[in-house]
Amino acid sequence: MLKPVELDLSELGELAQVIPGPEPKLELSLSPIPQFGAERPRIIPVCEPSLTGNELKYVTDCIESNWISSAGHYIQAFERAFAAACQVRYGISCCSGTIALHLALAVLGLQPGDEVIIPTFTMIATAYAVTYTGARPVLVDSERETWNMDLDQVEARITPRTRAIIPVHTYGHPVDMDRLNALAERHGLWVIEDAAEAHGALYKGRPTGSLGDAAAFSFYANKIITTGEGGMLVTDNEELARLAWTLRDHAFSSERHFWHKFIGYSYRMTNLQAAVGLAQVEQMANFVAARRANAAYYTELLKDIPGLVTPPQAEWATSVYWMYGILVQDEFGLTRDELRRRLAQRGIETRTFFIPMHLQPIYYEMFKGERYPVAEDFCRRGLYLPSASSLTRQEIERVVDTLRDVRR
Ligand SMILES: Cc1ncc(COP(=O)(O)O)c(C=O)c1O
Repeated sequence: MLKPVELDLSELGELAQVIPGPEPKLELSLSPIPQFGAERPRIIPVCEPSLTGNELKYVTDCIESNWISSAGHYIQAFERAFAAACQVRYGISCCSGTIALHLALAVLGLQPGDEVIIPTFTMIATAYAVTYTGARPVLVDSERETWNMDLDQVEARITPRTRAIIPVHTYGHPVDMDRLNALAERHGLWVIEDAAEAHGALYKGRPTGSLGDAAAFSFYANKIITTGEGGMLVTDNEELARLAWTLRDHAFSSERHFWHKFIGYSYRMTNLQAAVGLAQVEQMANFVAARRANAAYYTELLKDIPGLVTPPQAEWATSVYWMYGILVQDEFGLTRDELRRRLAQRGIETRTFFIPMHLQPIYYEMFKGERYPVAEDFCRRGLYLPSASSLTRQEIERVVDTLRDVRR
């Protein structure tokens, strides 16, 4: 049987302080907060979906028509609508964002011995997708200014075995893609955007999803649009799209059924999920606008609190603030973990930033001795505040008031 890979924190030495403490217990023990009257305020989750459009109507249609598998017509409608929102021609729906990434790399024919450059500061799925192919993830640090992969370091990590680069648009802030694409082109590398967190984000006015050879999106329930679970690969490359559709569905051959020329996968999305997805795409512009307005309000309210760094905003980027992240500097007076604990006591859920890939038990041996100080610092200091599209201005005020209050 498979055994977990254990990593004793003492092995990390001084780096152990980078790893977040245990999750604080979420409660409302100190309520009611006077300015909110006698009514007990609700726990504000870090994120929640909004299913207030045509979701129920479309799902009911699936049930009533008996089309619940991946053969129903919402699949194509959702793929077309989402690809159009990304300003590309093809969308290949699948089970998750991780799978969309894996599908892209499988289509490229990646194999053991190949290398793929990814940021160490990302969600584990970026690295997993590379690992599933047998290729090796190669890490780079983050840029302090954008929280994205350090493009200066990418070139230095290219070897004759490098096949692809996966830029991650961290928390919805696009990578400087013109620069990255120029670099990739010089070296003949594929660029697969990990846009799992960046639905509707713009780079110099162009949507994420249209900025590389292909892009992977997640529709997990905390994403800007959701299908419960789900993902999509989008691309303008017809050959890539056709192969991805084939691999997604067991690589059934067009010549005859049950005839297979590739190792395929069972990675299909259901019509039920796509029905939710279509209803969500219809509302995507509103969700994106809400995230941007919420982020602007947070930034305005937080600006005079010393020791907090608010999210990046590069001149090329129109971020979607999938999550509103902050960095807690020493000047704030509380550690990140202590701040989280105090917010949790007052019913405000937060989440820590990613733990970098080189500090994960599962990848520790692979990257032993490698150091990425910016990503490590983000891991130590970063948290995101409640960020749902449905968050109200009053809730944002409550979060910021509480944040001020617990600092005293
Ligand atoms: C950057 C990034 N990539 C990939 C994924 C994986 O998406 P999923 O959970 O749909 O597999 C996520 C999910 O949160 C993510 O944040």
